[in-house]
Amino acid sequence: MDVPTLVTKLRRLLTAQLALAALFNDIPGDFVEAGVFTGGTSIIMAKVLERYDPSWGGTGGSGTSGPGGSGTAHAGQRSGGSSGGGGAGPPDGWRPAGRMLWAADSFEGTPAPVEQDNGGAAGMRSGFQGEYATSLETFKTNLKEFGLGQHLEAGRLRILKGWFNETLAGAPVQRIAFLRLDGDLYVSTRESLEALYDRVSPGGLVYIDDYGAYTGCQRAVHEFRQRRGIRSPLNIQPVPEQVMFVPPAEETRWAAAWWVKEPHEPTWPPLRPPG
Ligand SMILES: C[S@@+](CC[C@H](N)C(=O)[O-])C[C@H]1O[C@@H](n2cnc3c(N)ncnc32)[C@H](O)[C@@H]1O
Repeated sequence: MDVPTLVTKLRRLLTAQLALAALFNDIPGDFVEAGVFTGGTSIIMAKVLERYDPSWGGTGGSGTSGPGGSGTAHAGQRSGGSSGGGGAGPPDGWRPAGRMLWAADSFEGTPAPVEQDNGGAAGMRSGFQGEYATSLETFKTNLKEFGLGQHLEAGRLRILKGWFNETLAGAPVQRIAFLRLDGDLYVSTRESLEALYDRVSPGGLVYIDDYGAYTGCQRAVHEFRQRRGIRSPLNIQPVPEQVMFVPPAEETRWAAAWWVKEPHEPTWPPLRPPG
């Protein structure tokens, strides 16, 4: 049974690789996906946690941190803000030990594109309002079919249902080891970065699924990196032939992008020089 996803094989592979890298490098923090649709890539991220994160029953990524070593909170810890609702399991503000996986989506599809979504290279998309509408129930059912219902119940896997500009900033996510953005459009990408980037740990991984496919997404990434003075190289998903056989045209044209958050990135808002 394959995961229910729109995401191409290569980008699924890259998603799994980056999730593994976050664990193997003991990067502190949760996994977050903004734009989960029917759950495919969230399932992949959860399966990596199940295999290698001790708080999910896994064996430990690097073998050096011990149980829960890379988590972000102690058992029973309360944290501020609201979960945004829509999740199963424990009440708002309660978080279990260890890492969490946060899954954010309107489940009503994308918002309306804006001017910045237009133009771009030939073949790039602008999107349309309501694209990829699904339902919270479909998402949960798919997770359960892949044996992940227990994590929803335990509150390790939390759903943030609603528009990103309403759910992300106030979500009680503390630190992030792997941030996977898949909201397609300019506004969705910009809002996700603005709300969550500062919570990404040094060494954490930021992945943008739609970088090569959607004009507005690519624009939002370039603007954000420029505004923040981010110099960490923007990696464009490599051409795959050596790794797996796939018909190359779409895989390479719609490449994802990712970068590592460097420890010494400028703080934001920028510190004022003294005097
Ligand atoms: C391409 S799909 C995600 C694909 C998914 N990761 C998979 O594995 O198939 C994009 C998703 O982002 C959501 N989305 C886009 N912009 C959003 C926004 N501003 N607020 C909430 N959800 C948004 C849509 O509802 C849609 O489910």
